[in-house]
Amino acid sequence: MTIQTMALIGTGVMGMGIAQIAAQAGLEVRLFDAKTGAAEAGLAKLKATLEKLQAKGKFTEEVLNEILARFKILDSIEEVAGVDLVVEAIIENLDIKQSLFKQLESIVSPETILATNTSSLSVTAIASNLEYQGRMAGFHFFNPVPLMKIVEVIAGLATDEQVVADLLELAQRMGHLGVRTKDTPGFIVNHAGRAYGTEALKILGEGVTSVSEIDRILREGAGFRMGPFELFDLTALDVSHPVMESIFNQYYQEDRYRPSALTRQMLAGKKVGRKVGEGFYKYVDGQKINEVSAQEVPDVRTFNTVWIRTDRAEDADLLAAYIREQGITLDHAETPAQDSLIVLATYGEDTTTAALRFGVDATRTVSIDLLTDFAKHRTLMPSIVTEKNYIDQAHALFAKNGHGVSVIAESIGFISQRVLSMVVNLACDIAQQQIATASDIDQAVKLGLGYPYGPISWGDVLGADRILLILERMLANTGDQRYRPSPWLQRRARLKLSLLHTVAV
Ligand SMILES: NC(=O)c1ccc[n+]([C@@H]2O[C@H](COP(=O)([O-])OP(=O)(O)OC[C@H]3O[C@@H](n4cnc5c(N)ncnc54)[C@H](O)[C@@H]3O)[C@@H](O)[C@H]2O)c1
Repeated sequence: MTIQTMALIGTGVMGMGIAQIAAQAGLEVRLFDAKTGAAEAGLAKLKATLEKLQAKGKFTEEVLNEILARFKILDSIEEVAGVDLVVEAIIENLDIKQSLFKQLESIVSPETILATNTSSLSVTAIASNLEYQGRMAGFHFFNPVPLMKIVEVIAGLATDEQVVADLLELAQRMGHLGVRTKDTPGFIVNHAGRAYGTEALKILGEGVTSVSEIDRILREGAGFRMGPFELFDLTALDVSHPVMESIFNQYYQEDRYRPSALTRQMLAGKKVGRKVGEGFYKYVDGQKINEVSAQEVPDVRTFNTVWIRTDRAEDADLLAAYIREQGITLDHAETPAQDSLIVLATYGEDTTTAALRFGVDATRTVSIDLLTDFAKHRTLMPSIVTEKNYIDQAHALFAKNGHGVSVIAESIGFISQRVLSMVVNLACDIAQQQIATASDIDQAVKLGLGYPYGPISWGDVLGADRILLILERMLANTGDQRYRPSPWLQRRARLKLSLLHTVAV
């Protein structure tokens, strides 16, 4: 069926966003909201938005009038009869959604598709009281709908293939990428998005460095658009903490999704984020007022010779070339001279462990993170016994030419390494669970979360072998099952295949 007419139940933020793109794609859109005046208010707001777009030259006045003529506000829910599709975007409550769909089924024809925009409930459960459950699917958009050009089409246990196909086709007509998703907690995007925040919280909980420094490293070094704590403050913990708990519990306390006691406490203390003026940062007029400034570069005039050891030959070449360019002498001996600064480039390891592995003096050792682009922000990790004089030398050396440097406390891996390996690993595990195809997961998360790459291709960009090494070492070091590498990642990394590789037969 080609869907031409749609009814939207619940004309709030999401409902009106969906209504907008549907009407712009030429669909007739009927609006219904249980709250008196809500549909009128939603449509008035949308009209103002569309008029602004028209004034900016996005479309002609004639087109504007055509779009507006496609809307009809309903006085009673019975008037949805005759539409091809009903999309529900009401309150996120299973009982209320179930009874709404039961009521809808008694009004619409047997061919009408029923869709829910739920972000956290089971589509199968919402459909479970229907006479004909095959007609119901999830149609999960992201806020703001017109800008977030992605929609998850969720097949519940009983959903007909034709219903999925019709919704995917409609998504395309509305200018969105539709991705077919299994009915699992968090679907694709909200599920994959768990890794970023939870690992950042774990790092913070271990006292590795400050909120500001973690945000800075992940923004400026790793390339995320926002730091995880800036993002938590924007989303607000009254929304995100329950989602973290819900996904963790829906997967029966799977360690990969383990939430943090830090955010539960902040939620209890009502420090939920920007909207209340305080979360991880304090805000005045929406601006952060207590961000810790970048660490000051120590004034070091004389440098000792530098002795380098790395896990990968190319890392040693890169470091040696950089150090030579700074006019500093390299120590090429088999073992470091008595006062050489020891620089290690390692993966998934703290500096104490790395110094012991390389058999060098930990009091003169500083590790550097080379997972992300060396030309961007640099992160250094001294051991718990490294002398200040050596930390200062390393800091000044890698900050030359005005480079941003963060010096962090010992951690089971560098901040970017921990977070990126968890992002890639979780996306690979979602592929392993066949929640969606690897390529759909990649595109959906890139569009839905604004990452610079899809989370699976990102693994290819960074090197699947390095991601695997980081995870294996962190697992060995901690015994924490959250770091266990997904079989999807392990096989592809060992066979030197792209992480997007799918089985041919
Ligand atoms: N806000 C988001 O970022 C986002 C993203 C994806 C999905 N969702 C999901 O979309 C749905 C709607 O979220 P929202 O943010 O637009 O909410 P909202 O509060 O902005 O709007 C909900 C609207 O539904 C109406 N409503 C409530 N119960 C109703 C009922 N029984 N019958 C008819 N109308 C009813 C309310 O009056 C309100 O106008 C939820 O299921 C939510 O989980 C939200």
